[in-house]
Amino acid sequence: MSQQLFRIWQLLVLMAFIPHSIEVSYEFTMEDERITSDCQNEPPKTLNIDGLFDMSNIDFEMAEDGVQLSGYKTVVWDIQPTDRVELQGSVQYFDRGTWQPTTLNMLVKDFCHVLFDKKQVWYDAYSKHITNSAQINNTCFRVKGSVIEFETYTIGLEFGSGIPLHRGRYAIRLKFRAFDKNGKVRPNEICFEIKGQFSKKSLG
Ligand SMILES: *[C@@H]1O[C@H](CO)[C@@H](O)[C@H](O)[C@H]1NC(C)=O
Repeated sequence: MSQQLFRIWQLLVLMAFIPHSIEVSYEFTMEDERITSDCQNEPPKTLNIDGLFDMSNIDFEMAEDGVQLSGYKTVVWDIQPTDRVELQGSVQYFDRGTWQPTTLNMLVKDFCHVLFDKKQVWYDAYSKHITNSAQINNTCFRVKGSVIEFETYTIGLEFGSGIPLHRGRYAIRLKFRAFDKNGKVRPNEICFEIKGQFSKKSLG
């Protein structure tokens, strides 16, 4: 169960990039228990989610209105504190046997610069609850061994999208890449996917 909750939490972080103009509220149901899968057709040194964080000290509990999270996670990604971290998010739709791109894509050139920006869609679901934010504001995900601490909070399971979503299978892919001072990408890229189904939440 706790593994399952942990995956739900990862998912919520992933969901944060979907546009925020709330017209329809959706829920995302994950396809299987493993939840995150490795990306296909990535460069050979690409790592999955475990290459980014050690989450073994994050606790999850089922609460009435969502999943309650507390604890800390440790950065395990081996990059340099001066690197620029880029985040690419994309959503694909499974249609007649193949994965098709959708218009749900995002590119954040300097993720660490905007990690605590209140205007970012991940702020309320994620960054706002980091208690050692003053430190993480500098280190971000760039210092191996650094600890990201969370207050105890409940993560809601809904999100809104201005873009209508079909019923059916989707894959949400998140990719973190680090660039050195010369702008050269490091080979230990992080990439992982979550597959599942979107369903409309009825209002009221
Ligand atoms: C992070 O650093 C920026 C730039 O120095 C600053 O404006 C912002 O208030 C800081 N945020 C937090 C949460 O410490």
